Amino acid sequence: DEGGNGDGGQTIVPGTAPGFEPFEMNVDGELVGFDIDLLEAVVAETDYELGDWQELEFDGLMPALENENIDVIAAAMTINEERQETIAFSEPYYSADQSVLVQSGGDVEAGELEDLEGLEVGAQSGTTGEGIIEDELGDDVSYTSYDNYVLAVQELERGTLDAIVIDEPVAESFADDREVEIAFTFETGEEYGFGVRQDDGDLQEALSEGIAAVEESSQYDEITREWFGE
Ligand code: ARG
Repeated sequence: DEGGNGDGGQTIVPGTAPGFEPFEMNVDGELVGFDIDLLEAVVAETDYELGDWQELEFDGLMPALENENIDVIAAAMTINEERQETIAFSEPYYSADQSVLVQSGGDVEAGELEDLEGLEVGAQSGTTGEGIIEDELGDDVSYTSYDNYVLAVQELERGTLDAIVIDEPVAESFADDREVEIAFTFETGEEYGFGVRQDDGDLQEALSEGIAAVEESSQYDEITREWFGE
């Protein structure tokens, strides 16, 4: 059926990885955030119905999609060629660069990635931040991967970790709430998309059309204002 607005369509199960403010976080047992509101608004523009959100670790999202435990990933996931070998993405819905977070008032002084050489550096498992550390710094740093960025930020506050590579908007959010600060930001030109299975072309197209509709209406700006206060 074409052109309807919601009722009686096929149900798609969304998956995300909370602990990534303000895109997805669990507040008092409730899943909230920009991606949650955005996907709900986007799906409301399509013939699909949204099922119950599944909360997974970030590096479990693509396997869960392939196993059909979930049907769509909404997790601030960067569209890139490596992932496109396995899954497909909607058109982009958000752009972000990467930042390096350090302990507030700590002794790590860094203005570029090379300054992290010899230090203890962390990122969330399976993220582009992890990929950057591996590709740019390799054996020149001692690298620890975390299931969740919240755990890495705690180690940073304690001083057991020197630096984290993380998406800039999320770095800002941690810097507002925790005893950490942004040392510097570097341009990666990353764009987030909703992930779907490669054989789900109809869903991929519907989500892209839904994003365009939400952007053209006032909804995208409202959701942005709600979570970024802009
Ligand atoms: N944008 C980065 C990536 O795609 C980090 C995403 C992490 N998302 C999350 N919900 N924890 O790798």
